[in-house]
Amino acid sequence: MQKHHNPERRVLVTGGAGFIGSHTVDLLLEQGTSVLAVDNLATGHEANLETAKKSTDFRFECQDVAQADAFHQIVERFHPQAIIHLAALVSVQESIHNPALNFERNVLATQSVIDAAQKCDVRNVVFASSAAIYGDNPELPLRETSEKQPLSPYGGAKLASEALLMAAANTYHFTATANRYFNVYGPRQDPKSPYSGVLSIFLSRFLQGQTPTVFGDGQQTRDFISVQDVARMNVMAACSPLDGFHAFNVCTGSATSLLDILAVFREQFPDTHETVFKEARPGDIIHSLGAPEFAREKLGFSASVPLREGLTAYIESARTTTV
Ligand code: UD1
Repeated sequence: MQKHHNPERRVLVTGGAGFIGSHTVDLLLEQGTSVLAVDNLATGHEANLETAKKSTDFRFECQDVAQADAFHQIVERFHPQAIIHLAALVSVQESIHNPALNFERNVLATQSVIDAAQKCDVRNVVFASSAAIYGDNPELPLRETSEKQPLSPYGGAKLASEALLMAAANTYHFTATANRYFNVYGPRQDPKSPYSGVLSIFLSRFLQGQTPTVFGDGQQTRDFISVQDVARMNVMAACSPLDGFHAFNVCTGSATSLLDILAVFREQFPDTHETVFKEARPGDIIHSLGAPEFAREKLGFSASVPLREGLTAYIESARTTTV
């Protein structure tokens, strides 16, 4: 990545201490941008910002984005050209058990970002949306125009936030991009809930010498994308030359089964016991796959990390950080 030191370029990243947020922060800093990360540390960790904190171009504020007045003051002081809004309630299960908290963190927080952007003349907002807005739509690959059928308060809130951003971008004439992430994996993904990303769970089990559990027959497929590619798309969108609102799938366009994933893990951990197969989870989607063409045509983004390579690097980095 080329480095042009450009401290005049300022980008605010909400959720900057999270999994995707911290990689986005690191990439912006590598490019010589001044970065302010805002995070309430509900699920983010300051340890994710260890590299970032070594840079003089980096600042951190512990703040809940949904608290509109406090967030507005932060934006006013930093005066960024772009806000990458990644702060969220990230657990689909938690959104089902606590829809009010989901509304606060995944809808009100978006409105708080929009208000601050409008008042402080921030011309570009990037939003972390999700393939969850498509629900269990069987018409694959999913296109940006495919029918939206969210199956959880989480998916509903992401879709509602997109609508708020679209309306705001059209009303106040700024650029807004909703990035619909598919199954993101990579270093710093938190494996601690049973509903965490499957690759983070598999990795943590293999590292502990334990057997992974596959729900179903392992033939289910997902469109797994490396967090490095996702961070790059966030940064590209923050510099988007497009006007108004656009939504993009952030995906690779390739489907990989859990059995194929396990084969890669087994090359790296040949001594682990047999995989345990359990009944499929109720409501589990069998296949999910995104169409990546629109992001390529409009923004020139395409995923560049092949899954085998990304997975091997992920395993390698976990081995070196836990030893
Ligand atoms: C994602 C969300 C999930 C949400 C769903 C619907 C994440 C991490 N998960 O699930 O919360 O309900 O979209 O929008 O964003 N699996 C195993 N063993 C494990 C863990 C998972 O076999 O230990 C399986 C799951 O049953 C599933 C597949 O792996 O078939 C992928 O699971 P997951 O990583 O949770 O992603 P999604 O199913 O896409």
